[in-house]
Amino acid sequence: MVVRNKSGKKKARALPVPPPPERRRFRTRLLTWYRRYGRDLPWRKTDDPYHILVSEIMLQQTQVDRVLPKYHEWLGKYPSMEVLAAAPEKDVTKTWYPLGYNIRPKRLQSIARESVEKYGGQLPSDEETLLSFKGIGAYTAGAIRSFAFRERAAILDTNVARVLFRIFVAKGDPKSHAMKQHLWTISETVMPMRHVFDFNQALMDFGAMLCVARNPKCPVCPMAKNCRSYPFTPGGK
Ligand code: ADE
Repeated sequence: MVVRNKSGKKKARALPVPPPPERRRFRTRLLTWYRRYGRDLPWRKTDDPYHILVSEIMLQQTQVDRVLPKYHEWLGKYPSMEVLAAAPEKDVTKTWYPLGYNIRPKRLQSIARESVEKYGGQLPSDEETLLSFKGIGAYTAGAIRSFAFRERAAILDTNVARVLFRIFVAKGDPKSHAMKQHLWTISETVMPMRHVFDFNQALMDFGAMLCVARNPKCPVCPMAKNCRSYPFTPGGK
């Protein structure tokens, strides 16, 4: 049915968010799965915001297995915001090699410099300031807030968007702006009150390990029974 507003224009119907029982079931299953199968990654064992910032900037365009050695090398060479801020730019770019997308080390250093100059070498935790840094978008701000500052902040990257779209939506254009907004809303609504750190890390592992883009592992998926895309048809929904 087409819904119209007062002046007769077609009005987009608000997309429904998952009802509370569905959210609860999703959280419980996701956290149970993660505690058993989640990856043991070094940036999950630290609460140093600088370390988490480094990992998230590296992971923006690069796979986990390529990031791992560079993450350790980087922190060995630039163990703090102050050291990174003071390093020669050429060295910083060289250390980044071969991760690619070489704007990232420049941005990382500029975040370090601004944090040293304005915030006493501490990474700010509020969303607005984080978003004001070049190189930190909505996803990275949510990741930093939930991982480094343990705040209740949602995340949405390509993997998480795919997971939430398949499980809770399954219809419409997953790439449209309106759908992205809707998936952010879903990410916010399914997020638990506690354990947000684990929950967000779990969403990422779930998208990287089970609910992968091609050939998702539906036969072993704990969500299959309640997934709106199950049974999954490649190129289909
Ligand atoms: N990709 C981006 N952030 C990540 C994280 N914290 N763990 C695994 N993959 C990621």
